[in-house]
Amino acid sequence: MAVSLVILAAGQGSRMLSDLPKVLHPIGATPLVVHAMRAGRALDPARVVVVVGHGGDAVAKIVQVEDPEALVVTQEEQLGTAHAVAQARAALADLGGDVIVLYGDTPFIRPETLAEMQLARATHDVVVLGFEAADPGRYGRLVVQGERLERIVEFKDASAEERAITLCNSGVICADGKRLFELISDVGNDNAAGEYYLTDIVARARAQGLSAGVVRCTETETLGINTRAELVRAEAAFQDRMRAEALETGVALIAPDTVHFAQDTVIGREAVVEQFVVFGPGVTVESGAHIRAFSHLEGAHVSRGAVVGPYARLRPGADLAEESRVGNFVEIKNTELGEGAKVNHLSYVGDATVGARANLGAGTVTCNYDGVFKHRTEIGEGAFIGSSTMLVAPVRIGDAALTGSGSVITSDVPDGALALGRARQETKPGLGKRLMDRLRALKASQGKG
Ligand code: UD1
Ligand code: CA
Repeated sequence: MAVSLVILAAGQGSRMLSDLPKVLHPIGATPLVVHAMRAGRALDPARVVVVVGHGGDAVAKIVQVEDPEALVVTQEEQLGTAHAVAQARAALADLGGDVIVLYGDTPFIRPETLAEMQLARATHDVVVLGFEAADPGRYGRLVVQGERLERIVEFKDASAEERAITLCNSGVICADGKRLFELISDVGNDNAAGEYYLTDIVARARAQGLSAGVVRCTETETLGINTRAELVRAEAAFQDRMRAEALETGVALIAPDTVHFAQDTVIGREAVVEQFVVFGPGVTVESGAHIRAFSHLEGAHVSRGAVVGPYARLRPGADLAEESRVGNFVEIKNTELGEGAKVNHLSYVGDATVGARANLGAGTVTCNYDGVFKHRTEIGEGAFIGSSTMLVAPVRIGDAALTGSGSVITSDVPDGALALGRARQETKPGLGKRLMDRLRALKASQGKG
């Protein structure tokens, strides 16, 4: 059955004490709201609607980068979760099927859990995701009779007896879309918070003779982020899980606790990742590649047999072919490094194509930016770039061409040529010693005077 997602992301998150909207705070280098979107995407939703409010423009921008087809609707005033879902009504009016409501600040919901909720819809009109809370705190409580869910009571409105219930509401709800919006339109705000509670739809459904059920998940899965302390704890839990998953899939982590992953990091079997490596978003490391200590990678692809680091930085668009080498204090950006090519020491290579087996000497720099525009550098197969060559882009170095150390290369070098772009050396016999002798004598005479 077709399913659509409504992701609630309008709240201010005032307890974060931050100008950044709460749902844009990152875990695993990925905004919270994007975690929710990715969990939901596994269901192949017919439509994704994100409800924004506080910091709406900033949230909308991130949402649309993640999924250009997602619809963003604005909730001008945050009058409660039911009111928030109601904002998505028009955006879904032409579609049938189920709707799953997710929260933008609850990043760890697993796709498998959402699929289970969808299945449970075969037996219930409304399905709520619940969990047994170690400390139920201010969560909404699920009031059940056997397997049937009777209603959800918010903490603020709960009696002492209801507060003793430990089965809590995660916030995730699944129902037929038309029915969901009908139920919501009946919800009022006569409660302790004066808000339109989405949770009220359960009692409404039961009153109409519809059935409601609970799918259960672990508490960690429904962990919501409200404070910076919670964000830090969630990040730690996320990293632990990524490390465990990497080990389970055969990645050779030498010191797992020192490696930091992004939500979408992909590392192949038997890749080696040494100590203190940081993965930003968008990194793929193939099987058998080797990432040495203290390297930082984002938006990069590292092929089989390539070696990176120690102390290397791969920025977005770095694409390293098999058996290539990027060594210490080297930065690579938006560059294809050919098979077996080497950039081993102290270099910056940006907006470039480097041919197979080319060797870039220590201190090679692609001067790619003229202050306004970026320009490309092309280096041919088997080229040899002498140490401390400045390649002033746009420029092309031919296949098997050489540049002399210390050259500033401003025009193209044909295949097989040697280019020297530096002042010719002058040598004055004996002058070095004569100069030093004169200076020492001067110092000695000053000391006496
Ligand atoms: C909600 C649930 C509670 C549940 C808890 C789980 C209701 C009434 N209560 O409470 O049962 O245990 O989540 O974390 O639903 N939002 C909007 N617009 C609004 C209000 C909220 O977009 O007008 C968004 C928030 O940005 C957030 C989510 O909805 O992502 C949840 O809102 P929040 O105010 O945190 O709800 P809780 O009080 O935690
Ligand atoms: Ca909350």
